[in-house]
Amino acid sequence: MSVSIHSVQYVEDQLEIIDQRKLPGKWETIRTTDYREVVEAIKTMAVRGAPALGIAGAYAAALAAAEAARANEPKPLSFVKSAMAEIAQARPTAVNLPAAIKRLGRFVDQSAQTVSEELANLLLSEAHAIRREDELMCNRIGNFGAKIIPEDSAILTICNTGALATGGIGTALGAVYTAKNLNKNPKVYVCETRPALQGSRLTAWELERANIDCTLIVDSAAGALFAEDKIDVVIVGADRIAINGDTANKIGTYMLAQLAKVHDVPFYVAAPETTFDRKLPELNRRHIEQRPASEVTSFAGICVAPENVDVYSPAFDITPRELITAYITDKGMPRGGRWDERKS
Ligand code: MRU
Repeated sequence: MSVSIHSVQYVEDQLEIIDQRKLPGKWETIRTTDYREVVEAIKTMAVRGAPALGIAGAYAAALAAAEAARANEPKPLSFVKSAMAEIAQARPTAVNLPAAIKRLGRFVDQSAQTVSEELANLLLSEAHAIRREDELMCNRIGNFGAKIIPEDSAILTICNTGALATGGIGTALGAVYTAKNLNKNPKVYVCETRPALQGSRLTAWELERANIDCTLIVDSAAGALFAEDKIDVVIVGADRIAINGDTANKIGTYMLAQLAKVHDVPFYVAAPETTFDRKLPELNRRHIEQRPASEVTSFAGICVAPENVDVYSPAFDITPRELITAYITDKGMPRGGRWDERKS
């Protein structure tokens, strides 16, 4: 099956981003050569999903270098460095964003004090490489992930981990697409994923397009599904995985992991190697993005809460290693122990 969605791609000297805020109602793209617009797209979640954030961030850095190189007066390297710092911080949880910027930073550090066209081209090729590598990693995750999906089984997932969130077919959803290709007839229960509704707006949309059996639930219906014995396996994505295995993913993931444990259902995290933060011993609240109150107090533009009510709205939560049956990565499926000590 070809999924044929390119969340972020470089076309005719411009970066083209599918504006995910408009889906499923409208298919619109943002076309830009301005890195600032990419930063805005990341902050406002026009582009989202950990791998897609890394890809968009890398292209944004390349655009900043191109802008500096083509200026009448060549701009100093500090222009690109400060643009890259801004890009890396556009959203705080997904490790892919700072990791991609760090990868491009190696070229910047070795460069002369003014920005050359050569540097801009180097950054652009590295951004292309990050996108291509992600596409291949998604395929490999899909192949490994499909192995743990039994025939005719019901899968529970949250948020969007498909083509919209990556440079390829997706991570958790990549496993589902591959299972479908293998005629395993997967059925997917999709948590709507309040407050930004990535499950209902994006995942249900992707699954319908791919002709995969999909049932949408409000997030709080997950417990009832487990109690009715309707879930065979849970597969989710990840934004950052620390050395001890702590996994940051969309808010609600930890709740699903607890439910899976109580109901003895396997709980898998599907993520490329780029999502593993090799420097971070454990995750803490500092890594967790807080979303604006207005996303909770209003729904589709309608006020649904008292005006000044206090709101707590973390975008992600942390699922500890012991609740995770296995990580499905592009290198395979490590089980047990610290992930950095495993043999892949
Ligand atoms: O806030 P979002 O939509 O960027 O959150 C995305 C997720 O939580 C995904 O599960 C994660 O980034 C993995 S995407 C392959």
